[in-house]
Amino acid sequence: MSSQFHDWMKSTQTQFELAFAHLLPESDVVPARLHEAMRYAALDGGKRVRPLLVFAAGRLFDAPSELLTRAAAALEMIHAYSLVHDDMPCMDDDALRRGKPTVHVQYDEATALLVGDALQAQAFLVLTEASASAERKLPMLQLLAKAAGSTGMCGGQAIDLASVGLALSLNQLEQMHQLKTGALLRASVLLGAMSGKTLSTPEVTALDTYSSAIGLAFQVVDDVLDATTDSVTLGKTAGKDAADNKPTYVSLLGLDASSKLAEKLCNDAHEALLPFGQKAQHLHDLADLIVQRKA
Ligand code: IPE
Ligand code: IPE
Ligand code: MG
Ligand code: MG
Ligand code: MG
Repeated sequence: MSSQFHDWMKSTQTQFELAFAHLLPESDVVPARLHEAMRYAALDGGKRVRPLLVFAAGRLFDAPSELLTRAAAALEMIHAYSLVHDDMPCMDDDALRRGKPTVHVQYDEATALLVGDALQAQAFLVLTEASASAERKLPMLQLLAKAAGSTGMCGGQAIDLASVGLALSLNQLEQMHQLKTGALLRASVLLGAMSGKTLSTPEVTALDTYSSAIGLAFQVVDDVLDATTDSVTLGKTAGKDAADNKPTYVSLLGLDASSKLAEKLCNDAHEALLPFGQKAQHLHDLADLIVQRKA
């Protein structure tokens, strides 16, 4: 990792963290317990990969920072909601997330359900309230809705739950990963770019190729880390996929082939960025980060 990328990443994360805290309802506003639980789920933890992708893609077309910040916050709210629901007893039944007790453990199940619902609504609210024109925001809101919904993240989660104990083909596994994880990562890249300008078809195609590669790589690495890393490092329960009999890249291909696939996807992602030249350097480095991360 170059020191320039490292410095950009740290300052972007710090600035995002501050803005993000202001875009969530304060914890003394009624209903205080729900707002406190929303802040518990969304703040103080998480790698903020989706916001970093938004800001890195925003640099391609010099997008305004207020719109990027709100798009990044919207994505991170939907992501946080997906994690709260993913951890609930009716889904993965996990007790640890980002090194803390999960929301249904710290609060209760009904609160966890409502935290997810309310974070999703708040995501659309913060993007709608950006100062950009309605013409700029409407396609962004549509894209976010599709990425979060039944043909995006929620659809992937449905396939995940229906696949427990099944031997999926490689194609089926890839489709599940592209939806449950890839959809929000793709939306991060596209929303960042769309914050700057209306994209041409070749630009969308190139960014789609990049995002599909990093989206799949992200979940392949998540599967590898689940099988190889301890719970303290991960901040979530390790070994959970095998314990729950989930089909993963590790269960289908093994560890070595999964890691090799992630590297190949990283190269594909780099190649897709070539038309954007030097302005895509942070997106290039984020692909490396996604594949080389240790948690
Ligand atoms: C975890 O996402 C869930 C997946 C989609 C694989 P992250 O690894 O981005 O989780 P945080 O936000 O850093 O906690
Ligand atoms: C979750 O995938 C993806 C979403 C939350 C949409 P996982 O179930 O593999 O995520 P972790 O491992 O619990 O973070
Ligand atoms: Mg899951
Ligand atoms: Mg899970
Ligand atoms: Mg996982």
